[in-house]
Amino acid sequence: MQSVEAIKLQTSIEGWAEQDPETAFTLPSRYFFDEGLFKAERDRIFMRAWHVAGHKSEFREPGQYVVVDLFDQSVVVARNMKGEIRAFHNVCQHRGNRLLDGRRGTTGGVVRCAYHSWCYEMDGSLRSAPRCERMKDFEPQQFNIPQLRVEELGGFVYFNFDPGAPSLAELFPGADEEMHRVFPDLERMRLIEEQDVIVPANWKVIMDNSIEGYHFKLSGPCHIDLAKLIDFKGYRLTKRDNWWTYIAPANLQAGEAYGVKLRNDPNPNECFFNIGMWPNNTFYTFPFSEFLGTFIMIPLDAERSLLRFGYYSSNEETAEVSKACMRWMNEQLGPEDIELNITVQKGLRSLGYDQGRYMIDAQRSNESEHLVHHFHRLVFQGIHGEERA
Ligand code: FES
Ligand SMILES: [Fe+2]
Repeated sequence: MQSVEAIKLQTSIEGWAEQDPETAFTLPSRYFFDEGLFKAERDRIFMRAWHVAGHKSEFREPGQYVVVDLFDQSVVVARNMKGEIRAFHNVCQHRGNRLLDGRRGTTGGVVRCAYHSWCYEMDGSLRSAPRCERMKDFEPQQFNIPQLRVEELGGFVYFNFDPGAPSLAELFPGADEEMHRVFPDLERMRLIEEQDVIVPANWKVIMDNSIEGYHFKLSGPCHIDLAKLIDFKGYRLTKRDNWWTYIAPANLQAGEAYGVKLRNDPNPNECFFNIGMWPNNTFYTFPFSEFLGTFIMIPLDAERSLLRFGYYSSNEETAEVSKACMRWMNEQLGPEDIELNITVQKGLRSLGYDQGRYMIDAQRSNESEHLVHHFHRLVFQGIHGEERA
C-alpha cells in the first residue's frame, strides 16, 4: 500500500490544465490553503482584476463615496464635484494616514485627513495643506493621491489596480447586455441592504459551491425548497471565456415562496439567474424575489473570506416576498451553503485527500460541474500563466 505522503507527492501540476474536462482530476487540495499559492493569487489574479465598488446609484450625488478594502489595500470610489466617478487610494500623501474609515458616505466635496488636516478633492487631488505657504518648493500637485482605473458594466462601477488590465468590455463581451436583459430595471436600482459575513474557507471553495447544481437536490432542506421554485426543464448553464451564467425559468405553478403566498398572476419572465464574472463577482436573482443580489467573495487570507451580500431593487417599497427572500437567503440558504464550505475547507487539509473528479456529463447538464472545472482552469492560468510583458 502506498503511504499518504507518496500519494501526495504524485500530484504534479504538469499537464493539469490540459486534462480533458470529462476525465479531469480536481485542482490539488493545497491550492485551497497553501500560503505561497494564496500570495500568487493575490499578486497575479486579484491585483489585476476588476473589483465591484457598487451600483451606479451609490455614486449619484457629488461627494458620495464607497470604500473597498482588499488585502492590505484600501480604495475610495467617489463622484467628484465635476460629476465624474473616480477611484483613488485611501491614503493621505503627507505621512500616510488612512483617510476614510466607514464603508459609505457623502462628503461636502472634501476629504480631510484627521491627522494634520490635508484636504483632498473627491478625486484625490490635493486642495490644501495647512502652512504649506511657508514651505520652500511645495508643489501641491505632487501630492495628489494616485488614482486607479474605473469602468462601468451592467449598472455597476468597478475599479482595477492594474493600469494594463484589459477593459471590462474586452473581458466580458455580452455580459452588459445579459444583465440588462434579465434586469430591465437595472439602471433604476438602488441598494436596499448589505451584509458582510466572514467565512473560514478559501474564496474558491465558496465560488465552487456557487457555480454547480450537482449539490442542488442532494444537500440541505433549503436547497430542496429552492428547487421547488424552479422549472428544471429550461435550466441552462453557459460558459464563456471569463464569465458564465446559469438561468432557469421559475416554476409558475408554485403557490408560495420563502414562506409567503404568491400572487396568482406571476410575471412569466420570473427566473432563477446567476452571472459570474472572473474572478469573484456574482449577480443573481431568485424566482419571485424582485431584487438583484450581489455575492462577492473577498479573500482575507488563504483560509478565510469575507462574503458580501448586497440586495438591490428598483421598487419604491420592498415587496413582502422580496423581504422574505432576503431573510431566507441570510438566515437559511446562505448558512446552509456556508456550513458546507466550512466542512470542505476542513476536509481539504486532510492527509487523506488531494484530488477528486469533476462530475462532468457529456450534455453539460445543470447538474454537471463543468463551470467548476472552467473556473479552476482560470485560477490555474492566473497563477502559473505566462508573465505579462
Ligand atoms: S498624515 Fe494626513 S495630514 Fe498628516
Ligand atoms: Fe448551494
